[in-house]
Amino acid sequence: MLITFEGIDGSGKSTQISLLKKYITNSGKDVEVLREPGGTDISELIRGMLLNPEIEIDPVTELLLFSSARSQLIAEKVKPLLAKDVVIILDRFYDSTTAYQGYGRGSLPIDQVHQINRVASHGIAPDITFYLRLSLEESANRTAHMEKDRMEQSGIEFYQNVIKGFDELAEKEVRFMTIDASKTVEEVHKLVLSNLPF
Ligand code: TYD
Repeated sequence: MLITFEGIDGSGKSTQISLLKKYITNSGKDVEVLREPGGTDISELIRGMLLNPEIEIDPVTELLLFSSARSQLIAEKVKPLLAKDVVIILDRFYDSTTAYQGYGRGSLPIDQVHQINRVASHGIAPDITFYLRLSLEESANRTAHMEKDRMEQSGIEFYQNVIKGFDELAEKEVRFMTIDASKTVEEVHKLVLSNLPF
């Protein structure tokens, strides 16, 4: 079972993921949380490059780096864990690439982004995707005090397009479960639990 969480910065993914992990552990199942980009030695090194504000990266290169980090994570961790029936919770997956690199950066036509996503994920798709939807204003309020990494230094227009990307995915993909992330932590957690496929 592969569960993914998506949403812009400040949408509360980390909080919801740790609550869900606790719930699944208490119900007696094995569960592993992994994050993107990251989760393996190579993927964490790539993460360091991608988030470093001092490095300039071409948009297509950026897309391919996120995809390389993903490919290693799938091969090294996700596939073996799925084979052992472990529930995996992923903090972001290829929908982030579609939204950030496809819609946000406009790096390549969206159908090409989908193709690259399929390759990088070795054909693995999420069973359910929780999209914690937040407005740009609310996100800015929640993250105002935080230091900005290279991705977060992108402008307002970029983030408007990222949200548009997630919204369009949510309309098209049946696995997408959209939750209003401006609700309280408890309300969002309840909505997550009520939509769990087990
Ligand atoms: P992170 O600190 O993990 O952000 P968050 O806590 O919001 O998940 O940094 C990951 C950043 O990388 C975040 O700004 C989203 C971006 N990202 C992409 O642009 N494309 C991708 O495919 C992924 C997985 C993340």
